[in-house]
Amino acid sequence: MEENKIPVHIGIIMDGNGRWAQLRGKNRSYGHKAGSANVERVAEHAFSRGVKAVSLYAFSSENWARPKEEVNELMKLLGSYIKKLTARAVKNGVRVNVLGERSRLSPELLRVIEKYTAKTAAGKLQLNILIDYGGRGEIVRAANAALERGETLTEESLSAHLYTAELPPLDLIVRTGGEIRLSNFMLWQAAYAELYFTDVLWPDFGEKELDIALENFAKRERRYGKIEC
Ligand code: IPE
Ligand code: IPE
Ligand code: MG
Repeated sequence: MEENKIPVHIGIIMDGNGRWAQLRGKNRSYGHKAGSANVERVAEHAFSRGVKAVSLYAFSSENWARPKEEVNELMKLLGSYIKKLTARAVKNGVRVNVLGERSRLSPELLRVIEKYTAKTAAGKLQLNILIDYGGRGEIVRAANAALERGETLTEESLSAHLYTAELPPLDLIVRTGGEIRLSNFMLWQAAYAELYFTDVLWPDFGEKELDIALENFAKRERRYGKIEC
């Protein structure tokens, strides 16, 4: 694959854990466990293919509306997988960041996030975990931050206050689980991202499926409104 045909920054909407578990006669938590175990495999494969930044949608601002037991289970799982993920990230030169609204997370989870992601600060590759994240909320938050500083709202000033300000532009969004929608994922950044949807449920999405998505991306013509690339 040509170098410039590899996306620099990929976003992944990791959907389908609940259905994956249901198909096996298990409860939704079983699917979330399998889904969280899949994160490292896919992220590491993306990095091995030359991707520099991976942003994973783990918990949306709307997911709080799920039953309390499922939310609690997900929060517990997020804490434990951040610990596991960051240990490997340090070895692999990956910087882990958690993006999203921090104020609604429990103090225990916040402590885990701060302590463990700090250890990865020297990494050159970037792995972002989106927790209590919503694209609309992110835009409003960035607009308020710009206005509080007395800045005029422009595309540049607003972009500079997004969670992704330090990241390269989003090139490709992959959504597993069969739904053809963004569900509030990186709305601003999606403006010129390529979109790839697959029916494969997140726990089943592995190296081979990621390669298919990358091959599909490599064939796209990104014109950005012009008549040729
Ligand atoms: C994605 O899987 C994980 C989260 C949204 C936290 P789902 O839990 O949405 O799984 P389905 O879509 O119900 O199968
Ligand atoms: C999107 O999946 C959120 C995450 C993957 C974290 P959802 O399952 O919450 O999305 P909808 O409800 O199908 O739009
Ligand atoms: Mg879902």
